[in-house]
Amino acid sequence: MIDIKRFQKDFPMLTGKTMQGHPLVWLDNASTTFKPISVLKAVEKYYTEYTSNSHRGDYDLCYQVDSLIVETRKTVADFIHAKSEEVVFTSGCTASLNLVAFGYGLTHVKKDDEILLTQAEHASNVLPWFKVAEMTGAKISYIPLDEEGRLTAENLRKVISNKTKIIAVAHVTNVLGYVAPIKELAAIAHEYGAILVCDGAQSVPHMKTDVQDLDCDFLAFSGHKMCGPTGIGVLYGKFSLLCETEPFMTGGGMNAKFDMCGDVNYLQPPLRFEAGTQNIEGILGLKVAIDYLNSIGIEEITTYERELKKYAVRQLEKTNMAEIYNPHSEAGIVTFNIKGVFAQDGATFLNSKGIACRSGNHCAKILIDYLHQVATIRASFYFYTTRQDIDALVDAVAHGKEFLDAYF
Ligand SMILES: Cc1ncc(COP(=O)(O)O)c(C=O)c1O
Repeated sequence: MIDIKRFQKDFPMLTGKTMQGHPLVWLDNASTTFKPISVLKAVEKYYTEYTSNSHRGDYDLCYQVDSLIVETRKTVADFIHAKSEEVVFTSGCTASLNLVAFGYGLTHVKKDDEILLTQAEHASNVLPWFKVAEMTGAKISYIPLDEEGRLTAENLRKVISNKTKIIAVAHVTNVLGYVAPIKELAAIAHEYGAILVCDGAQSVPHMKTDVQDLDCDFLAFSGHKMCGPTGIGVLYGKFSLLCETEPFMTGGGMNAKFDMCGDVNYLQPPLRFEAGTQNIEGILGLKVAIDYLNSIGIEEITTYERELKKYAVRQLEKTNMAEIYNPHSEAGIVTFNIKGVFAQDGATFLNSKGIACRSGNHCAKILIDYLHQVATIRASFYFYTTRQDIDALVDAVAHGKEFLDAYF
């Protein structure tokens, strides 16, 4: 249940002040999220009560950590309706997408094959594919967005062909906040023998994700965008595809044996992809973060954020000072400019009122050509965002003119 009072107690950052002494209004949740005390305690407990490495000792502390890692893998798997062996721990969504690109893409696409992206993708879901194209001679093409900026199944049908091997798209885009019809896209991809890689950085923290129902082939996401620690992320992959994926990193903990001649046997997925000492505090923190989200209910979170989004758009429109670029998208993201003000100046003005919003191109650099805006301000919400936070934003935008007087 959305219980704002509970969140005020659980999240130390929510009662924080800015350097200028204003109460902090945090509207940059698409960038990262605050952590509840339970997550902070889980991290602390690892260091104060059972520090040890995983998979490496025959003593109780190590068994304890190992079993917590197994539990976390199960918690993550349940959260996205996968099997435990399909959940790979990585350092974040970026690392997960790179693992698919270099572990699977490099060996499964060849010269003149095609990789399909959209113009709305984050750099982390563009640049690894550029590199794969450069290394294999495959071609990058783009599924056109519709006039609002949405990815539609109909538009995928216009460009997909038998040469298409990989389609890599965000479930929710990080600038405009549209939800892609992943289930339909995956079905079309499979008709053509291609795979669908889903960037879940902005979806998994905010909406129910069922990989079996979506039938996506890979799904990448980050812990820090869902109340977990930084430096921990997940790659889900269908087990059969993970078995065809080359390890992107090799080292301790991912091999069964190797000899002087260079013969190596890798472990089965997911351990095959987890070379070296893992981010144990991150893994343990991620479990508690997911427990926290489950205690609220992911569907409640979605509904709440969608209402907040509508409220924010309504209120911002009333000011007549905001140019909004995504009034109809579903996610809790409002991307706008204060009329006549360059985005970074606008965000600096908001900062002077204690409001933290992101400005710029938000790592979606090829979306600029679509939006015809070099920079925008993005306000993004989470379940602990309040209407008062939005009112503070709206009030500041309404008074943007005072700031502009110096500007005009
Ligand atoms: C859509 C999308 N994909 C990928 C990423 C990369 O996530 P990370 O920096 O946590 O690896 C982000 C981060 O903002 C994102 O919004």
